[in-house]
Amino acid sequence: MAAEQDTKPADREVDEFTGTATTGHEWDGIRELDTPMPRWWLWTYYATVIFSIGYVIAYPAIPLVSKATAGLFGYSSRAEVAKEIDNAKQAQSQMLDQISKKSLDEIRKDQALYQFAVAGGASAFRVNCIQCHGSGAQGGGIYPNLNDDDWLWGGKLDDIHSTLKHGIRFAYDDDTRSSEMPAFGRDEILEKGQINDSAEFVLKLAGQEHDAAAAERGATVYADNCAACHGEQGLGDPEQGAPNLADAIWFYGGSKAELVAQISNPKLGVMPGWQNRLDAATIKQLTIYVHSLGGGE
Ligand code: HEC
Ligand code: HEC
Repeated sequence: MAAEQDTKPADREVDEFTGTATTGHEWDGIRELDTPMPRWWLWTYYATVIFSIGYVIAYPAIPLVSKATAGLFGYSSRAEVAKEIDNAKQAQSQMLDQISKKSLDEIRKDQALYQFAVAGGASAFRVNCIQCHGSGAQGGGIYPNLNDDDWLWGGKLDDIHSTLKHGIRFAYDDDTRSSEMPAFGRDEILEKGQINDSAEFVLKLAGQEHDAAAAERGATVYADNCAACHGEQGLGDPEQGAPNLADAIWFYGGSKAELVAQISNPKLGVMPGWQNRLDAATIKQLTIYVHSLGGGE
């Protein structure tokens, strides 16, 4: 036990095998060598001590009651964040400025501006549009899917822009998109048999199962009553918001019963116009976003 006590350096023995001084500690005949710290280690250690003293003087470091010591440089991470937010806001307002000034085509050609517009449009879409069109713009029920390449009112940038600004059958905007499919049944424009035949003809146009004889009769009814809007081949007319009937994409359903219902007493969708609710730059960003969803012409 006595061996654990420190002895004065002068008393320390030098180990005969290594030539290194011992610490004077000895356990059961095993003596501890007094190997010095490596130089590089010591210097690194001193450097960190000096650095930390400098750091404590220069930067906020020691916590006090309500805040930390300020440091000579007056640095504050809070101020830094506020500055970054300011910068971001400024950059954003420059982008928005450019979006206001440039045409939709010019925005589309400017990679950085385009990405900014798609992101801004996506976030405006989440706020204003998903309650009707769904969070993925997939639509549903009476709300059209905006992801597909099937457009009621046209899928070019300018078409979408106009749809968004003025709305669809929106009573409060004189330039709104509007057209009305006649209620062939309710208003007794066609007889039940004719409605049935025209529905069979629509099934034929869409390449679906149909009654050939009825479709044959329906062809005449269609040419006289429907072709003006839906086109002779049933390809639709975006000027009138008349959907393509020859594809398999249905808005109001493509079963025989749903077709008869639409022809007899048509559903006509309404969408508000946005030009009095959203600023012009936001509407442009929404246009670019909707166009980017994959179905833009
Ligand atoms: C004045 C133009 C006009 C005429 C004429 C017209 N339609 Fe339409 N039709 C429309 C419009 C517009 C829509 C879409 C309504 C909407 O967007 O809500 C539509 C929708 C439809 C739909 C629903 C398509 C879908 O994808 O769900 C069917 C089916 C249809 N029409 C069949 C007919 C038939 C058959 C006739 C003739 C008997 C006819 N339409 C005559 C304008 C017209
Ligand atoms: C109150 C429900 C409602 C809201 C909110 C709404 N829409 Fe619509 N939207 C509709 C309906 C209904 C139609 C289909 C109208 C028709 O039948 O022609 C439509 C049609 C459209 C079309 C035309 C699609 C085509 O095929 O031509 C676009 C584009 C569109 N909406 C984008 C938007 C955007 C972008 C927003 C958000 C700023 C939005 N909508 C908000 C109900 C809504």
